[in-house]
Amino acid sequence: MTDFLNRFSLKTKLILLYSVLLILSVGVGNYYSYWDTWQLLIENKTSNIKARSKPIIEQWLTKNELTKPGKNKLSEKNALEIARDLTSRDAVSVVLNKKGIAIANGKRLPAEMAPLPTNHNYFNKAVSGNNEISYLSYTNGKRILTILIPLRPQPDSPKIFGVIQISTSLSDINKLLFQHGTKQFFIAIVTFIIGILSGYWLIGLSLRELQKLSATCHEISKGDFTQKTDVKNRKGEIGQLANSFNLMTDKLKTLFQSQKKFATNAAHELLTPLTGLHGTLEVLLRGAQDDRETANRLSKGMLKEVNHLIRLCEQLLGLSRLENSANLHKKQIALNEFMISFQRKTKFIAHTHFLILKKGPYIKLTVDPDMLEQILFNLLSNAIRYSPPVSDIIIEWKLIPDFVEFHVIDKGDGISGEILPHLFEPFYRGNNRNYSNDKSTGLGLALTKTMIEAHGGNIRIDSKSGQGTTVIFIFPL
Ligand SMILES: Nc1ncnc2c1ncn2[C@@H]1O[C@H](COP(=O)(O)OP(=O)(O)OP(=O)(O)O)[C@@H](O)[C@H]1O
Ligand SMILES: [Mg+2]
Repeated sequence: MTDFLNRFSLKTKLILLYSVLLILSVGVGNYYSYWDTWQLLIENKTSNIKARSKPIIEQWLTKNELTKPGKNKLSEKNALEIARDLTSRDAVSVVLNKKGIAIANGKRLPAEMAPLPTNHNYFNKAVSGNNEISYLSYTNGKRILTILIPLRPQPDSPKIFGVIQISTSLSDINKLLFQHGTKQFFIAIVTFIIGILSGYWLIGLSLRELQKLSATCHEISKGDFTQKTDVKNRKGEIGQLANSFNLMTDKLKTLFQSQKKFATNAAHELLTPLTGLHGTLEVLLRGAQDDRETANRLSKGMLKEVNHLIRLCEQLLGLSRLENSANLHKKQIALNEFMISFQRKTKFIAHTHFLILKKGPYIKLTVDPDMLEQILFNLLSNAIRYSPPVSDIIIEWKLIPDFVEFHVIDKGDGISGEILPHLFEPFYRGNNRNYSNDKSTGLGLALTKTMIEAHGGNIRIDSKSGQGTTVIFIFPL
């Protein structure tokens, strides 16, 4: 069944479901209304006959002195009188004695209805004192309503000396109901057609938006990220889906562009030292190797380039490794001891400057210690590189709510406002004076930022041209 239904499109399935529901609701509503009208008309007819007959019967009882005790015996003569009084063009009455034997019927003309045989089941109920007896039967293909009225000397007397049976044809009610039913049937058909057409239109309209979305997906899968979905109702469910979809496309576009830029920059950064190496090797091969001094100088240059290449590759590897936070190896450290050890390790590279470690509060921190060391090392080497020798470099930390905040402060040339926002972009280098004259890759701060964010922290730089630089980063406690 599920396999069979899955062969149809969503549109067909929705229309099928909608049609079934519409048929059911229109069908059930019409049937209920038909049945209710039928009941109402029968009840109305029954009470009409009863109301018409009661005064005639009462008059007849008094006239024939049947109300007096001892005199209430049915004779054929008085039975015939009441039977005729209660018979008309559309109803025939029969007078039954206590045993259920018909002793008189009111039919006089051939056009009048023929009297009906007695149904003893209902007769017994009437004789046992039940006043509300009426039932439906079929005779000669016609529906007949029969009412049984017990005959009593007084209305509240328990004594019953006969029963009057009045039968009437329901052909007038049937005719009325047929007309009513035909009208209702046509109304139902029109409702159904209008319902199906408007449902088809409405479902098609909603699904058209989804089809547009799917077409845009198809275009994007070919690599065209400029595609946007054009959904009219932005607040509806499909509109919201389209909004999220457009947002995702924008993000993907930025991501792809930055990846492309990154790959181009990386290739360029690798190509420059490799071209240098290629040129130097050619010079050496052309005979410069015979001159010891030149060969020595060129080899030193080549070593420098190779070292730069190694550092560049290490930085690139570091960046890609950090894209997965599973590569963090966190453990708890005592920050004071860690920082003292860091200062000791960096004595050799910081010998040109005064490195001052301002100890903060005693803190236990859960971090990847190698990464924290790498972060501090990158920031310290920037401070050394971009501030004049013999100046102070301060490293300090303090507690702020939920975080520990580190400051790396130098007294260098500072950074101008327009280049500040770009410092964390991979391969971005500012125009600051490089006091150490070594080659830079432009990846240090990008890698540092990635490492800090992998720990749930963040980094910012506070600096003004000519006023030194403070790098501030925080780690969650
Ligand atoms: N303390 C600082 N003072 C002044 N400028 C700085 C400082 N730190 C970073 N910069 C500027 O930010 C740029 C980017 O720094 P980043 O550390 O990312 O790369 P880099 O130092 O050029 O190269 P490397 O990858 O070798 O560290 C630097 O080129 C420099 O212009
Ligand atoms: Mg750097």
